[in-house]
Amino acid sequence: MPLIDSIGRTINYLRLSVTDRCNLRCRYCMPEDGIGKVAHGDILSYEELFQIARVAVSIGIDKIRITGGEPLVRKGLIPFLQKLAEIPGLGQLVLTTNGVLLEKMAVDLRAAGVQRLNISLDSLTPDTFSHISRCGDLTRVLAGIEAAKECGFPIKLNMVVMRGVNDHEILDFAALATASAITVRFIEYMPAIREHNWQRLVVPGSEILARLTQHLTLLPAEHTDLAGPARNFRIPGAAGTLGIITPVSHHFCSDCNRIRVTASGLAKGCLFAGSQVDLKPSLRSGSRGLLAQALAAIVETKPVRHQMSLEACHHQAFRMSSIGG
Ligand code: 5AD
Ligand code: SF4
Repeated sequence: MPLIDSIGRTINYLRLSVTDRCNLRCRYCMPEDGIGKVAHGDILSYEELFQIARVAVSIGIDKIRITGGEPLVRKGLIPFLQKLAEIPGLGQLVLTTNGVLLEKMAVDLRAAGVQRLNISLDSLTPDTFSHISRCGDLTRVLAGIEAAKECGFPIKLNMVVMRGVNDHEILDFAALATASAITVRFIEYMPAIREHNWQRLVVPGSEILARLTQHLTLLPAEHTDLAGPARNFRIPGAAGTLGIITPVSHHFCSDCNRIRVTASGLAKGCLFAGSQVDLKPSLRSGSRGLLAQALAAIVETKPVRHQMSLEACHHQAFRMSSIGG
């Protein structure tokens, strides 16, 4: 039975965060001084996360993306993923990572049953990369991407485009998709943390596209179910493809098919809506029925659309790492 929300959207995609911790400190995700971390005791156990996944699949979820923070920093992840991959009815198990630990873990992730990876990478130059991530080492991420390719993962690279920070690298990223069979997705900067004067950082998707087409021929690519909210393009003769994701300038809320669960068991229907349902009481009651009801309830809270635009945003500031992007 599909899960349908109050305006007829089919909800079949769960983003499940396994930790709010991260080994990077990306500027678009966390404010400089951080916002308190979740106490260890409030983080769900793998058994609890598994219960959520299993019940979610039983009510109509067929794709689960594992997120963080950085999911690869949580100990014991691989056996958990193996168990998830075996849930009957789960069509897709995918994961988003910053790639720092991927060189070591790619083979095990593949063997555990993860089907695809989204890798966050916002710069191809060491200095800009460490400026954006406030501490990261680009060579480790690049080695991680190579390792993931070698073990056969389909890969999407996500670049958050920020004016005056990394937007001069748009064409360099496009060149990656020309040279190898990966998808490069340009994502508009979203004001999650609501920093002062955030508008200056947003490069609208239309401008990203215009900058690309000054130098490249782009042909619209068919929108597949796997494309999610991206507008996709092919470059003639290129091995990979490009995508542009425009949460700010051109929301895609009418096609939204997702819910989110944080590592502490808060379910959310929308990144930018205040409402959330704490799944812990129903989890700890041991009743699958109650847990199913709580998940279905969050689907009902999905707003028709978010209220963020190039002009203004009204949400409470949040750390993306606490929700999983
Ligand atoms: N704006 C746009 N994308 C973001 N992400 C996280 N924070 C932001 C933001 N403020 C996306 C990044 C990262 C993924 C985990 O979430 O693409 O790769
Ligand atoms: Fe970590 Fe991802 Fe946030 Fe960067 S964007 S700090 S890699 S959770």
